[in-house]
Amino acid sequence: MAFKSFRNFMEDAVRRYYSSERALKDFFTAPQLDRAFGEALAEFFSQHLSEFEKPSLVELGAGTGILARDILNYYRENYPELFKNIRYYIYEFSPSLIEKQRKVLSEFENVEWVSELPKVEGVIFSNEFFDALPVHVVKEGKELYVDENGNEVWLSLENERVKEFLKRMGYENLNQVVEVCLDCIDMLKRISESLVSGYHVVIDYGYTSEEISRFPEGTVLAYKEHKVVKDFLKEAGNADITAHVNFSALMEYGKDFGLETILFQSQRDFLMHIPTFLNELEKLSWEETPEGIERMSRLKTMLVSMGDKFKVLLQRKSS
Ligand SMILES: C[S@@+](CC[C@H](N)C(=O)[O-])C[C@H]1O[C@@H](n2cnc3c(N)ncnc32)[C@H](O)[C@@H]1O
Repeated sequence: MAFKSFRNFMEDAVRRYYSSERALKDFFTAPQLDRAFGEALAEFFSQHLSEFEKPSLVELGAGTGILARDILNYYRENYPELFKNIRYYIYEFSPSLIEKQRKVLSEFENVEWVSELPKVEGVIFSNEFFDALPVHVVKEGKELYVDENGNEVWLSLENERVKEFLKRMGYENLNQVVEVCLDCIDMLKRISESLVSGYHVVIDYGYTSEEISRFPEGTVLAYKEHKVVKDFLKEAGNADITAHVNFSALMEYGKDFGLETILFQSQRDFLMHIPTFLNELEKLSWEETPEGIERMSRLKTMLVSMGDKFKVLLQRKSS
């Protein structure tokens, strides 16, 4: 019988899922909650983009394109000079999402879709992208494989890069499931090579090495219609498979590629330091219309239920 490593299984399932029609309506992220999220990010990026004469923003995995739309709208209204100069690149692998993004962003002339990361000065960022990159799943010297019928098979761990990762991160003797995202490290390398000068920002749910013991069975989850699917090994391509991001690994391996961590905090703390977001909260707290009350509750979701689970990592490319 043929076996696939879980990493290969996940890569295939994620690609199929995001290329299906289902991906257009299934995932639910902060930009979809409210434009205040994109506006806060835009304000934060503007401080960093102002360092460059010809600044670029590169978004990895742009979903329906609404985050890009909210950021560009914000610049058009509040930073017309930046809006005039900026180039916005989207790196996306789903043909159906690219089509959707092109529609949502049709009014903007400065957006370009790329299949390779371009050389830029500016900011490369992502929201809920790294969690979609495939992971090797290991436990006590064994690696998870999947057979043709969607059953779990644990085989001896042979992958040298995975073994090196466990050693470097100090996970060798853990008696628990550990997920190893070599694709995240390869992505970091590509990001660093693409940044002539500038910053890398990751927003995602994740953990650090100190917190890994909170997930003895690992963090891989599959979602379908906003619900967790249990038997997802038999549902390849129908469900969105994700793994929490190991932020300690992004910080540690970033060093190899000249990406120095300059900020790491919860999404709540991050948003609460951005004046635009605070102003919006203040304004909405006085609103009594149903729409205002609803927006207020959406902003609170970003701070409360998502606030601690989601982290923001800012890295600077040192030249
Ligand atoms: C959960 S969605 C997040 C979308 C958007 N950033 C948001 O916050 O709404 C993940 C996005 O990453 C894209 N994606 C996932 N894996 C990818 C890969 N390996 N290469 C390029 N895009 C990828 C998906 O197609 C999708 O657009």
